Amino acid sequence: MEINAAAVAAAYRQQFGSAPAVLAAAPGRINLIGEHIDYNHGWVMPAAIHQCIWVAAGPAPHAAADELHIWSVAHQQLYTASLAAPLVPHAWQWPNYVLGVLQQLQRHGHALRGLQLCIGGNVPVGAGVSSSAALECAALTALNELWQLALPPLRIVQLAQAAENQFVGVNCGIMDQYASVFGRQGQCLLLDCDALTHTYLPLPPADYQLLLLDTQVKHSLAGSAYNDRRAACEQGLAVLQQQYAGTVRTWREVSGQQLEAVRPLLAPATWQRCSYVVAELQRVQAAVEALQQGQWWQFGQLLYQTHQGLSQVYQVSCPELDNIVATCTSLPAVLGARMMGGGFGGCVLALVQAAQASQVYAAVAQAYELAFGRAPVCLPVQTGPGAHIVLPGGAGASLA
Ligand code: GLA
Repeated sequence: MEINAAAVAAAYRQQFGSAPAVLAAAPGRINLIGEHIDYNHGWVMPAAIHQCIWVAAGPAPHAAADELHIWSVAHQQLYTASLAAPLVPHAWQWPNYVLGVLQQLQRHGHALRGLQLCIGGNVPVGAGVSSSAALECAALTALNELWQLALPPLRIVQLAQAAENQFVGVNCGIMDQYASVFGRQGQCLLLDCDALTHTYLPLPPADYQLLLLDTQVKHSLAGSAYNDRRAACEQGLAVLQQQYAGTVRTWREVSGQQLEAVRPLLAPATWQRCSYVVAELQRVQAAVEALQQGQWWQFGQLLYQTHQGLSQVYQVSCPELDNIVATCTSLPAVLGARMMGGGFGGCVLALVQAAQASQVYAAVAQAYELAFGRAPVCLPVQTGPGAHIVLPGGAGASLA
């Protein structure tokens, strides 16, 4: 069954016996460049994709006034809890994104009321396109409307990130939630993760196509390695802030020379992680220029360089991702490719000549099958709008 807004509303009606009062949507995201840079207070370049998570919401009936019921279309499971008891993480995992959001609302002084939710979507799970951020943002957008909370879009982003950090326990940056709320069809964001402001930039024109090549693997290292990398960057920055007190506040103020000068003060692996950050920050600047001037070949080269950095220097890639990028490098129809997201699995993002997209996929699949015995999944990227209310009123009114 195809999951769309109507299917989620219908599942709500079937489960709870009435129509939802509100239906909200929030998309997954890609990121063009600026990987592992959001928590380092740099600039990143994400875009919202057209795949969404929908959350249908309504008040619980009178007889269940302090109860929470959440139906998952994907899992065909009903989660039930009393709102009178403290919210605690559940073994199913999927309810935790919603529970985290509810806990954040509670912590910020919003009283919770009996609630019925139905969630469903078509954002691929585990592909590194942030289905979790989409769910958090869709839930907050729905509750904002249902309970008339008047939360501005940036507040929704911050509460969604806090839910992931504090309840789900993933110490992620702000990029995914920000892109899910502020994304726009046909454009990418240039997001300043320090100031929390953004501008919109154009995406490659129709001659080019962005492809997601999904390895469909997720190595168990992913969570712990993410936190380790983050800690290494924080350690390195603390040393630089001490050495260059008054001039260095974030990684943006750090030059290559300054990083070289503190090399003896850092463990070799820590220094290496830091050198990736400084180089990636420079690549994002170069990518903005290439994008504004329509220099897609240069832009593609930067993607390859980022992959090299993520694989060899930051060391968050894996053989499956490296295999796909290596094949891409040998194909003239690919302008650039790199692993995307946290790493250790998920997708490669490739910028290809649109007319050659199927030949590119065939070549990638052939080499990958030879090495791993199965083909990666190909998802052509289509962008879409950021989080919005589908029902009631103003169908599709965007938050951003
Ligand atoms: C994950 C995190 C993001 C970001 C990326 C890496 O997607 O959720 O905050 O750090 O990894 O760029």
